[in-house]
Amino acid sequence: MKIVFSDKLPPKKKGSTRFCFFGDWFLKDDNRGPSWNEEFRGFEVDHVICNLEGCVSGRSLKKRLKAGPCLKMNESSLDFLLRGNTDMWVTLSNNHVLDYGIEGLNDTISLLKQKNINYIGAGLNEKEAWREGVFNKDGERTVVVINFSEGEDDSSARLGVGGVAGYEVGRVANLIVSNKKHNKIVVVVFHGGRERVNLPPPYIQKMLRNFAELGADLIIGHHPHVPQPWELHEGVPIFYSIGNSLFDYGSKSSLEEKGLAIIFEKNKGDSSDVVYAVPFFEKERYLEICPKGDFIYDRLKEGALYVVSQEVIMKSWAYESCRKGKVSFKINLFLLIKLLLMPFRIKKGNKGLRAFVGTPAHQEFLNTYISNQLEPTENKLSGAVINYINEK
Ligand SMILES: [Fe+2]
Repeated sequence: MKIVFSDKLPPKKKGSTRFCFFGDWFLKDDNRGPSWNEEFRGFEVDHVICNLEGCVSGRSLKKRLKAGPCLKMNESSLDFLLRGNTDMWVTLSNNHVLDYGIEGLNDTISLLKQKNINYIGAGLNEKEAWREGVFNKDGERTVVVINFSEGEDDSSARLGVGGVAGYEVGRVANLIVSNKKHNKIVVVVFHGGRERVNLPPPYIQKMLRNFAELGADLIIGHHPHVPQPWELHEGVPIFYSIGNSLFDYGSKSSLEEKGLAIIFEKNKGDSSDVVYAVPFFEKERYLEICPKGDFIYDRLKEGALYVVSQEVIMKSWAYESCRKGKVSFKINLFLLIKLLLMPFRIKKGNKGLRAFVGTPAHQEFLNTYISNQLEPTENKLSGAVINYINEK
């Protein structure tokens, strides 16, 4: 499939369908000012699919015991999310939708239904959590969107227990293969990796490339909160992280205010499909499209290309783990001692620590750090790659 980087979209072709994917979305307070994606309003798209990273509830609910912050939004935030009459979807398989337990998820789902916002990736039972987004149009191939995540918590839906579509790689592989047998177009939306790191861990690259080899047509990642590399693997576009869309939490580095909107254009009949990638930046809860030639535009378009070889990803990950590991390893040890020694917080400490260490991206980071201390690997990375990794 062809990828076109652009700061504008050409007019929609007759009979085509456009899906616009955005990254992590969280709004702390009430709706104020113009709609967050006003700038994209001129874009002719049929469906918007955005990652709703948090619980939505008007109630006071108990926070879940977990590693990291708990995110909750007001009902009015969903009005801010809506975009005119465009068919709106949210992906819920992420590490925050269960922050206020099943009650919080229940409220979120009820409010989404009230506002006519469709959702995938989580549910009040396993079947609902693994429900795919299915887009049918008469006489055209069906488009299926699969959403799953790796999380910091034990929040996966299981038999009789609600939650998210969790880290079940084999299950996703089977879904891809069975949908392809029925000649469907398959889009995989994965939420995972390491936050605020400019490149994916090697195991995620391997997994997503494998999905491409199994027949997925387009693969989109989020969770790191910064844009990461993209590539065409055997002709399949893989965007390892499209960054935030609007993430209204804490102070942010410059890259956390940058993202990619991915517009998948499915054309009629046999005409080839296209993926448009539109770089944008967030400014006071409002998205502005980066003009061509802008530094960020070039970084997102060209910069990613030299870090997607498996060798460079491995070396970069080792470099990053060692550089940051020295600090984070000490902090984690400190946290471990602090959490375990506090007599009234043993439950929270254990749960938080178990959730942290149980997340594949954290394990990979610690493993790489420790193995590099025992047997240092030489990281002969180019200056350009080191700059790419270090930019904030
Ligand atoms: Fe996340």
